[in-house]
Amino acid sequence: MEQSIMVNSPIVIGHRGAAGEAPENTLASFRLAAEQGSHMVELDIHMSEDGKLIVCHDDTLDRTTDISGAIRSLHSDVIREADAGSWFSPSFAGERVPFLEEVYDLLPEHIEINVEVKDSGGALFDEVLLNYLRGNNRIDRTVVSSFDHKLLLRLKQAEPELRIGLLYAADLIHHASYAALLETEVWSLHPHHGLIGACDAEDAVAAGLHIYPYTANRSADWDRLLSIGVTGIITDYPGRLKGHLSRLNL
Ligand code: G3P
Ligand code: MG
Repeated sequence: MEQSIMVNSPIVIGHRGAAGEAPENTLASFRLAAEQGSHMVELDIHMSEDGKLIVCHDDTLDRTTDISGAIRSLHSDVIREADAGSWFSPSFAGERVPFLEEVYDLLPEHIEINVEVKDSGGALFDEVLLNYLRGNNRIDRTVVSSFDHKLLLRLKQAEPELRIGLLYAADLIHHASYAALLETEVWSLHPHHGLIGACDAEDAVAAGLHIYPYTANRSADWDRLLSIGVTGIITDYPGRLKGHLSRLNL
C-alpha cells in the first residue's frame, strides 16, 4: 500500500474474541484475543429465559454448541451445560457459553468491550443490561452496538454516558449525515467493511466519529481500510492484524 496515505494506527477489535482461531464468543476466544493484543473485543448478547445476559451470536444454541434451542426459551442452568467448544475443535471441548459478566471479569481493564445487542427484547432487556453495566462500573469500558438503532437510542436516553455504535450493512449515501440524523451523541460507526469509502471515513472522522468496520480478515481489506483512515478494524484474526500493522510500523 502507499505509505503516503497512511494515517494513525487503528485499534484492533477481536470479533467474537478471536473467532478465526478459537470457538467464537467463548472465554477461550476472548483470552486469545487479549493475548494477541486486541484493544477491544466484540461480542454478541441475548437474554435467557431467567433474565441472564448470555454471550452468543445466534438466537439459538444449535450451531455453536452440542444442544439446541432458543436462548430466550432456555434457563441459564441449561445453557451452562452446553459444550461451546467441541464444534470448533476437540481441543476446546468443555468451553461454556459465557455470561456477559464473565467476559468483563476475565479481561484486563484496559481492554474495552463492544457489546453487540442481538436481542431487541424491549424494556426488560434494556433494564437488565443497564443495571449490569451501571452496577458494576462497566459503562466507561463499553461500547454498545446494534443493527437496531431504535434500541441504541433508547439505551442512550436512559444512560447518557453510554457510548453507542451504529451497526449497518447498508450502502449509505453519507455515513456521517446518518449519524447526525439521530440527534444524539454517537460514538462510532460500524459499517460493513466493503461499504465505506475514503470520503465517508474522512467526513465521519471530521464529525468526531470513530469508524469500526466489520469483519475484515484479509490483508488486502486491511490495507484498504487503513488507506481510508478508519479508527478501528473488527477482525476474526486480531493476532494477524497486529502483525500486519507492526510490519507497516503502525
Ligand atoms: O459487530 C460486528 C459484527 O459482529 C456484526 O455482525 O453478524 O457478526 O454479529 P455479526
Ligand atoms: Mg457481532
